[in-house]
Amino acid sequence: MSSIQNTNIIPGPVLLKISTGKFILTEGTRIYSDKELLKVSEYLKNFLLPATGNNLIIKERKEKIGNDSSINLKLTDNEGKLGFEGYTIEISPKEINITAPYPVGIFYGIQTLRLLLPPEIENNVKVEGIEWQIACLKLEDFPRFSWRGYMLDEARHFHGKDVVKKMLDLMALLKLNKFHWHLTDDQGWRIEIKKYPKLIEIGSKREETQEGSRFSKKRDGLSHSGYYTQEDIQEIIEYAKDRFIQIIPEIDIPGHTRAALASYPDLSCKGYPFRVSTHWGFHKDVMCVGKEEVFEFLQNVLKEIIDLFPANIIHIGGDEVLKERWKSCPDCQLRLKNEGLKNEKELQLYFTNRIIAFLTNLKQKTVIWNDALKKNLGGRPICQYWFRGKKEVLEYLKNGGDVIISDFKYTYLDHSYSFTPLKLAYKFDPIPKKLEEKYHKHVLGLEAPMWGEYTPNIKRLEWQTFPRLIVFAEIGWTPQLKKNFNSFKERLDTFLKRFDLLGINYANSREVKGNVLKRLFKVFTLLTEEKGGT
Ligand code: ACM
Ligand code: ZN
Repeated sequence: MSSIQNTNIIPGPVLLKISTGKFILTEGTRIYSDKELLKVSEYLKNFLLPATGNNLIIKERKEKIGNDSSINLKLTDNEGKLGFEGYTIEISPKEINITAPYPVGIFYGIQTLRLLLPPEIENNVKVEGIEWQIACLKLEDFPRFSWRGYMLDEARHFHGKDVVKKMLDLMALLKLNKFHWHLTDDQGWRIEIKKYPKLIEIGSKREETQEGSRFSKKRDGLSHSGYYTQEDIQEIIEYAKDRFIQIIPEIDIPGHTRAALASYPDLSCKGYPFRVSTHWGFHKDVMCVGKEEVFEFLQNVLKEIIDLFPANIIHIGGDEVLKERWKSCPDCQLRLKNEGLKNEKELQLYFTNRIIAFLTNLKQKTVIWNDALKKNLGGRPICQYWFRGKKEVLEYLKNGGDVIISDFKYTYLDHSYSFTPLKLAYKFDPIPKKLEEKYHKHVLGLEAPMWGEYTPNIKRLEWQTFPRLIVFAEIGWTPQLKKNFNSFKERLDTFLKRFDLLGINYANSREVKGNVLKRLFKVFTLLTEEKGGT
């Protein structure tokens, strides 16, 4: 059996020239690497071992003599157009040379090398009777955007460490570099905060869960719970770091906070006992902006978050905040009066400004959903655009604000394939049409959110995520002019053979086409009506 994979790279590379001849990986192949690249060399060696059965020897590059069959990992002094994450690969019959200005580029070069090998390389047991061939070629590659993200909502359904690690592995394969972790919401608080133990004791458990459509009154009668200890979080951060992925935790405030209010009811306007929510949508009870103890609580929570997460980027949500309670709350109304605020919208602005100022002071970059974007917002947060308010977002970009695009029409992975079929997802471009070129640099990139209401298990989670996330990986990396859906589909066929071997559940080519009739009723097909993967 032999097969040469030479054009099946996703995300499609910037420059690829295939030449004649082939490199054959054998047990005699050695890995030569710069000292700083020891960890990625080990990663490569460990990746190649199970399927090939070859336990390749790693040596320092300066020890190389002669021209035996080798994979050479080399850092270059000059960044040039490769930028922070770029790399080059040159393959001749004797040598594979991967070079990059930084270790992350070498790591991405290794992911590309992975895709140049036959898909059988993904097996976790030795594959007999296969020659591990790679076509001779030259490749130069670097990403279009610096922010290529995947968001996982574990507040609605908790999946646990193994699932998160699996997703991080797949992100690495796709050269995605930001893992946005939605850890708190109305239906669950999933991260241990030592100063406030009730967030876990109470906030991480709900009695039951809504079944059926968004407006259904049905509940499943089954409790759901789960949370990460700070040790778990550290373990996952390390795992992500080895894959050059930054983790951005989201503590969604002041709305989407029923789980926190169930744990500490005094943080609300009304103060009465709450249950962790058992249904979806958004909720009237939000954090009280009038009470100082709310700010004290949040600052203490955020301090622990800052101590844990090394990326120094914290997402504070700010989406879908209902203002009803604030209107009738004496504390909120007093705050409004004392601060000279016109209305409850300005009260949210006051809240956001205070939290951003706190984070900025501790050298943290803040991310907000675009709902919280208002004129007079201080601290220059990164704005994540999802829905409505496009005009304000364009204004923000023109004033030098940085934006991540998660347009819900294209990038929401919880939406049904009828609402967002694969072809439509592929059309998505993070750069807004009306944006002049001089502002393009403020579009940091894109992120695909995987909201968790309808993904109670890993199979369903994978089915909603893939193959759409593979599309977004290509959009985030590949030059706009090189995008081509037909070419993508061909490459995807081979790519998915790897997923078969890795045991990942994905929507098949028929399912991702969606359904024209259903699409006509798109409001009703916004969320998942399909049964895939369950
Ligand atoms: C959101 O989908 N509520 C950001
Ligand atoms: Zn209040």
